[in-house]
Amino acid sequence: SRKGSALVRDIHEKQSMNKSRQRFWELAGSKLGDILGVEKTAEQVDADTVKVGEHGEVDFKEDAKFAQHMKQKGEAVSEFAKSRSIEQQRQYLPIFSVREELLQVVRENQVIVVVGETGSGKTTQLTQYLLEDGYTRSGIVGCTQPRRVAAMSVAKRVSEEMDTELGDKVGYAIRFEDVTGPNTLIKYMTDGVLLRETLKDSDLDKYRVVIMDEAHERSLSTDVLFGILKKVVARRRDFKLIVTSATLNAQKFSNFFGSVPIFHIPGRTFPVNILYSKTPCEDYVEAAVKQAMTIHITSPPGDILIFMTGQDEIEATCYALAERMEQLITSTSKAVPKLSILPIYSQLPADLQAKIFQKAEDGARKCIVATNIAETSLTVDGILYVIDTGYGKMKVYNPRMGMDALQVFPVSRAAADQRAGRAGRTGPGTCYRLYTESAYQNEMLPNPVPEIQRTNLGNVVLLLKSLKVENLLDFDFMDPPPQENILNSMYQLWVLGALNNVGSLTDLGWKMVEFPLDPPLAKMLLMGEQLECINEVLTIVSMLSVPSVFFRPKDRAEESDAAREKFFVPESDHLTLLNVYQQWKSNQYRGDWCNDHFLHVKGLKKAREVRSQLLDILKSLHIPLTSCGMDWDVVRKAICSAYFHNAARLKGVGEYVNCRNGMPCHLHPSSALYGLGYTPDYVVYHELILTTKEYMQCVTAVEPQWLPELGPMFFSIKESDTSLLDHKKKQKEEKTAMEQLRSEKAEEARNCSSRL
Ligand code: CDP
Ligand code: MG
Repeated sequence: SRKGSALVRDIHEKQSMNKSRQRFWELAGSKLGDILGVEKTAEQVDADTVKVGEHGEVDFKEDAKFAQHMKQKGEAVSEFAKSRSIEQQRQYLPIFSVREELLQVVRENQVIVVVGETGSGKTTQLTQYLLEDGYTRSGIVGCTQPRRVAAMSVAKRVSEEMDTELGDKVGYAIRFEDVTGPNTLIKYMTDGVLLRETLKDSDLDKYRVVIMDEAHERSLSTDVLFGILKKVVARRRDFKLIVTSATLNAQKFSNFFGSVPIFHIPGRTFPVNILYSKTPCEDYVEAAVKQAMTIHITSPPGDILIFMTGQDEIEATCYALAERMEQLITSTSKAVPKLSILPIYSQLPADLQAKIFQKAEDGARKCIVATNIAETSLTVDGILYVIDTGYGKMKVYNPRMGMDALQVFPVSRAAADQRAGRAGRTGPGTCYRLYTESAYQNEMLPNPVPEIQRTNLGNVVLLLKSLKVENLLDFDFMDPPPQENILNSMYQLWVLGALNNVGSLTDLGWKMVEFPLDPPLAKMLLMGEQLECINEVLTIVSMLSVPSVFFRPKDRAEESDAAREKFFVPESDHLTLLNVYQQWKSNQYRGDWCNDHFLHVKGLKKAREVRSQLLDILKSLHIPLTSCGMDWDVVRKAICSAYFHNAARLKGVGEYVNCRNGMPCHLHPSSALYGLGYTPDYVVYHELILTTKEYMQCVTAVEPQWLPELGPMFFSIKESDTSLLDHKKKQKEEKTAMEQLRSEKAEEARNCSSRL
């Protein structure tokens, strides 16, 4: 593109200015600032950290010399780690130097908090130390992670360190995937998995020690586990709990468990030079790409880590980087050093994720483009340059929409510092912040807001209720969620029929708890039982639990769109998913068939696995597998019964409004209902995606009469008025609050039903 060649020209111009080996920054002045998109104040500049050649062209040999020099100084150790045996690597980690003291503190205390910089060895070593100290003789060591990717990659690493097959002595479990066996002694898992295990075994008897890792992340499940494990600690004298945190505000964790000891692992980090942008940056993808190219061309060896907010941006960044590299190669006669561009985000297939840990082919510089997953939960050695956009995606409950939405927010100062720290693990590094210093000081929060205070608590409420926590407002939360959030979530569960009028679980609610699914999906599945189409609904729920199976390469967009259209069921995206799965099945689940039809075979295989696991749960509940054959209207009804809170009414071409709150919502161009000349008056949707507009994701046409039939509390006010309140005062607090909420919601419903 034009932009790419302009960048190359800029860089060349800059080089030609740089006749003598004077200070890079001084010489280039503001022009360099323009190229880099960053500003550097004079005293922060270390001339030695930025190098360019003498003769108007980039001289890469200079870089090699510089690296040599760094090595002699004994500072550039990025290559060091790679050449040592695994045993040597283990002993080189900061945690190793305090192994004995640490184990002693563990022996003497039931609960401890361990604080250490990211990369000090907490996640990979603690479990092994406990095993070596004999704890696994009477139970297993569990270690929770807020992220699936971390649980998988760390288990793999530890199984290598222990020279055992993954799934044997060391295993992992994430939702819908259990890679552990009868021999497993060390189990990594997501915090959500351990939380669900407390349902079956409230004392967690098989665990001798639980490590709650990455506690500073304050994920929803970790926060709930805090309250639950505190009780386990009180009941089981033989149980040990270790809470680890990468940041220093660990006092809070210690206080929560009764002022337990805090153990500090001494850090071993190098200074990181922090450079701020001089002006707020308009397009941070573009700015990051420029910055990365500039580093690649002008700076000494060392890998680059870029923080973006999500998959789309990461893909765009990788694409642009590849494009610029290609242009650079064609526009210069010199050999251009290789750049290995590696994306990482949670939905990326596992084999591609593993690539970031592998050594790049010789001489290539790695450029990892990541979400905040690389902030603390994944450690990649060799990073010397960090480019921080200053943004991240956060799930936030939006009361107006009555749902969680992933939204882009500025990260906190603590997170920004973590990001910068990633550059100083193997040598002195540099962090380029694509925001101003004033934004850092004045606009960023000091710490992130815990998830429990900002998201929908539907699942948590269901789970705690099934654990017989009668009054949620009394539960021992480290930071209690706003009362309004709890009540809103209770209200949603009541609407779905999972809670009764006094806030206890109904029969349906008890069954819903069994499924590791969001409450509406669990409800949809169980309505399949009632409507005798569970086989079909099961497939839809499984397909909704995996990333989109439609493959849409940028260079073959039209072709792939045409392929997708062939699967369309005009009245429903849900049924379209069902159709795809059923056709795949009748083609013997073949991979080549998927490729021919622009479908991700991995996604479909995953859906098949999920399906079989959900089927096992159905069997255990003695729910028979009924089918409606090809009469799919009844399937739409099951969908409607779970998603009537997301009902929308036609307003204009492709434009709908939410029946409850009047929010505008649009048909997405990729929907089966889009542009086919068929626009039903009423639809329900799976979720709302906020991009340029509010788009409904996965839409199904519904008959208007289904809404009052299946969602009487929203769509027929008379019935809900008489059935809502029972006057026995079982949970006084909850009930009064529910009542207040009810009247607000009834008002909402009244408005809505009058529109209907
Ligand atoms: O948990 P903490 O951040 O303290 O460190 P860790 O995850 O135990 O990582 C310690 C070291 O193990 C890292 O510096 C990496 O060198 C290595 N590691 C790895 O090679 N592959 C992984 N998947 C995880 C860690
Ligand atoms: Mg860790």
